[in-house]
Amino acid sequence: MSIKSGVAGVLDSVLDRTIVPGYSRLGYAVRSMRWDDDPGPSALSGKSVVVTGAGAGLGLAAARGAARLGAVVVVVVRNLQKGENARDAICRAVPSADVRVEICDVANLADVRTLGARLCERVERIDVLVHNAGVMPPSREETVEGHELTLATHVLGPMRLTESVLPALAAADDPRVILVSSGGMYAQSLVTDDIDYRASEYKPATAYARTKRMQVALTPQLNRRWAAHGISTYCMHPGWADTPGVAESLPTFRRITEPLLRTPDQGADTILWLAATEPAPPGGTFWHDRRPRPTHYVRRTRESSGELETLWQYCCAATGITQ
Ligand SMILES: NC(=O)c1ccc[n+]([C@@H]2O[C@H](COP(=O)([O-])OP(=O)(O)OC[C@H]3O[C@@H](n4cnc5c(N)ncnc54)[C@H](OP(=O)(O)O)[C@@H]3O)[C@@H](O)[C@H]2O)c1
Repeated sequence: MSIKSGVAGVLDSVLDRTIVPGYSRLGYAVRSMRWDDDPGPSALSGKSVVVTGAGAGLGLAAARGAARLGAVVVVVVRNLQKGENARDAICRAVPSADVRVEICDVANLADVRTLGARLCERVERIDVLVHNAGVMPPSREETVEGHELTLATHVLGPMRLTESVLPALAAADDPRVILVSSGGMYAQSLVTDDIDYRASEYKPATAYARTKRMQVALTPQLNRRWAAHGISTYCMHPGWADTPGVAESLPTFRRITEPLLRTPDQGADTILWLAATEPAPPGGTFWHDRRPRPTHYVRRTRESSGELETLWQYCCAATGITQ
């Protein structure tokens, strides 16, 4: 290692641990100065990329970026108008783009199964599946299937959707699944005695961060399971980006941090990089700004193998995944 790259590595780690500079556009600016591994302009040519929650924010940026790299893009949204707006926005930026719109509420597991079946019929294969849809409801909400909404959106829906499209993923040469988590999960340990958040007093940011922690904790297990189909599974966090979701759910945070927030494209950069970089990085890993990151910074958040197993069994039962 040269002195220059050693210093850069230390600076990168300092940015990561000091959070505010690292997660902001400052961290992106400092790190991206050293990147020489941008995917080539046709890195996703001939590939199909499915992005959930692609009507706005990071999902729209990731879908647009994938179209720019040559992919056929499937934008999964809950509202047809938003999907058509997203398709128009992507086609304005990339006139040659092939964008398809699919309607699905990813928190509704029956709807997700139907989407999975539809995708298997409509696309020859899925090269990249990005689980980006995210929510932070102000009060506890339950899905039609009786699950707490952030759990269903961030964990159960992505597990069910991936399982439902396994044949389409397995048909790709180098399929990748990417879960979009959040740096907010660093403050949370894995909760396994109240997974659906029924017993304790609901707090929006806690529900959000707990389920983002679950995504990170489950990634190695999901990677092992889906590796049998040739799939590499990643989890990442985008830092802090200025999106409609942040404006709506965290208005005070946005007001204070606005000059520091990343653009949606900057927040989506690592999603695209994981989708397109060659060779595929090792699966089961957690990423931010194109580098694998620790999943814990303090001992108190570490889970035991028993806790992981409890969560795994619960999620498999909830999603109808047989082992
Ligand atoms: N922005 C950040 O700083 C930040 C930081 C950390 C992590 N993240 C994560 O990054 C992802 C994208 O966040 P964002 O900031 O771009 O949020 P956003 O602006 O709120 O976009 C999220 C998208 O997800 C969609 N969505 C939510 N629930 C859905 C469901 N049940 N079915 C289908 N689509 C659904 C929303 O659709 P509707 O328009 O229909 O509501 C929306 O288009 C999320 O997972 C979020 O947790 C973001």
